[in-house]
Amino acid sequence: MSVPYFKHKGILFPEINSYTVEHLSYLENEFQLLDDDVVSVVYPKSGTHWMAEILSLIQQNGDPTWTRNVPLWNRVPWIETAEAKEEILNQARPRLMSTHLPFQLFPKSFLHSKAKILYTVRNPKDALVSSFYFSKALKMLKDPGTMQDFLEEFLSGNVTFGSWFDHVKGWLAMKDKPNFFIHTYEELQQDLWGSVERICRFLGKELTSQQIDSVVANASFQTMKDNKMSNFTQVADEYIDHSKGKLMREGKSGTWKNYLTVAQNEWFHSVYQEKMRGVTVTFPWD
Ligand code: A3P
Repeated sequence: MSVPYFKHKGILFPEINSYTVEHLSYLENEFQLLDDDVVSVVYPKSGTHWMAEILSLIQQNGDPTWTRNVPLWNRVPWIETAEAKEEILNQARPRLMSTHLPFQLFPKSFLHSKAKILYTVRNPKDALVSSFYFSKALKMLKDPGTMQDFLEEFLSGNVTFGSWFDHVKGWLAMKDKPNFFIHTYEELQQDLWGSVERICRFLGKELTSQQIDSVVANASFQTMKDNKMSNFTQVADEYIDHSKGKLMREGKSGTWKNYLTVAQNEWFHSVYQEKMRGVTVTFPWD
């Protein structure tokens, strides 16, 4: 079973109670970001949960009590979901938030605030594969069909939260703002300790090396996979068919090679070259 999508300002959203035009408009035009807010922005399937766990642990100086006892979506709510509205207004400060929103739908109040934004990008081929498998399980997403079908939808931006290329280019326009931090899923993979240290520096948070060790240990793939507050297993069967897919699937970089054919990869590459022409930032997969 899968639900239909609706379009808001050209971007697809699942047609479920969590996503409404009313809430998305409120968020864009009325919601006020506070100067000490921390917002993790991630295109779907590119490390949203990982960053939420890392930020939760940093906020708690490495102490995992919070991450072990409170569901991730309550610690770091997704601002675009209608049910998060009250929760965010009542959150203890500094507030931690997540979003998949493209820049043009993000709260306009950001432009006049010192709220800190962390943008995480992942190799789009790995995000595609991760999304393909998650779409089979998550009931609010359309059945992806074959990999070839889904690749077509992904490359044309006909997926929830819009085109990967537009998302990245839209957010890259913020790259020189002092309250904007950009990094990749691949950097987290290669050097989680160093990444946590850099994130702390950006947040103005001083952690000891033992506290960083604890963030790293508690945000590892295996620890998150075993943590029922973070691994999605608590999500009701009404929303996900747990027999068809898992959030914590592989947690690796570059495994798209096991799923895309040579022709599919060549097609992806040519679309990537065309859409990313003029982008001066280089990514680990370039
Ligand atoms: P795979 O499907 O490739 O395994 P999101 O949180 O944006 O939905 O992204 C989910 C992807 O992030 C999944 O990728 C998941 O395994 C991976 N992931 C989540 N936590 C991780 C961690 N601690 N370390 C590495 N990858 C992680």
